[in-house]
Amino acid sequence: MMFTRRQALQLGVGATAAASSVAIANSLSKQSQLDLTDVGNASLRERAAAKGILYGAAIEWAELSDSGFNQQILQECNILVAENEFKFGRMRPSLDRFDFTASDRLLGFARRHSIPMRGHTLVWHLALPDWFEEQVNRRNAEQVLTNHIQTVAGRYRGQIHSWDVVNEAIEPSDGRRDRLRRTPWLERLGDGYIELAFQAAAAADPEGMLVYNELGLEGNHSDAETRRRKVVELLAGLIDNGVPVHALGIQSHLTGGADYGQFEHLRPFLSDVASLGLQILVTELDVSDQHLPADLQERDRQIATLYHDYLAVLLDEAAVIAVLTWGLSDRYTWLSSHAPRQDGNAVRPLPLDDQLNRKQAWNAIARALDQAPPR
Ligand code: XIL
Repeated sequence: MMFTRRQALQLGVGATAAASSVAIANSLSKQSQLDLTDVGNASLRERAAAKGILYGAAIEWAELSDSGFNQQILQECNILVAENEFKFGRMRPSLDRFDFTASDRLLGFARRHSIPMRGHTLVWHLALPDWFEEQVNRRNAEQVLTNHIQTVAGRYRGQIHSWDVVNEAIEPSDGRRDRLRRTPWLERLGDGYIELAFQAAAAADPEGMLVYNELGLEGNHSDAETRRRKVVELLAGLIDNGVPVHALGIQSHLTGGADYGQFEHLRPFLSDVASLGLQILVTELDVSDQHLPADLQERDRQIATLYHDYLAVLLDEAAVIAVLTWGLSDRYTWLSSHAPRQDGNAVRPLPLDDQLNRKQAWNAIARALDQAPPR
């Protein structure tokens, strides 16, 4: 049965019906208002800074020798993250050795330009080295995990804006009752590995902001809702146990063409996380155009609309302190190989095109930052 919002309120049919009619009304009015032309020249970092927010991007060392791209990074970003150079497999040639060549030079670049850098990531089920499976077992896993964190977070102590201490620990479809992902760490250490990682990170870098980073939280469907509930439960549990966790990272790999509505469904989740006393970072934002029409105008418009609508809701929550896109220009994006288009056209998921020109997506981020309440 359908009710108008007023009827729903009078009849007391509950928040869901009322909320969905509000969402539809908002969606119609916002869509007709959305103007992504003429946003002015100020960079994203300036617009973000005006609100007490950080804007930045994931980069790889090799990209920085592209001088045009390098210049855009410095112009647009006031926070950076290594796309791969801080991952376990990249730093660990063997069980008893660390190689900091790549991470040192990337952090060196950021520090020379006084740009804060994030540490991504200390504990993850992917990007593990070949030797891991054979050489890490139930007997030594705790020592390997804590030693890795002590050494990496200890080396960069006081120099990292925030650590993704644990990445992607939840996967309801793995079938565990607790909805945790079956990872190599969990198999060897049990569910206590998450707490262990945060304790080790706090001991090694007492000043760093410690983040739990997760994927698949953005959707307007029951699977994403299950993930959101589990994230809140996990974070609340850690806090109850006195574990030092300071923020949630919402990866935000969005899919063009998916039905997100106006993202109103995220508001209660964001406020639940904020009520735990946590900050929130948008850590890996991009919009896959794999399934969008080939027409450039239409494709860019749909991508930009998602950027705007998503950030409008996220930035409305004062606990959200940073937005990072997973790359800056379509010239360098993991989606070229991870989610290519069937028609062979190049993907366009990021704020700048492959010629480093600002796209509608850039305008959309600019507009969302301008509309955000100050922190
Ligand atoms: C991706 C990188 O972008 C790729 O270059 C690499 O080959 C695989 O990892 N979630 C994360 C990131 O937390 O670390 C992933 O990065 C993208 C998904």
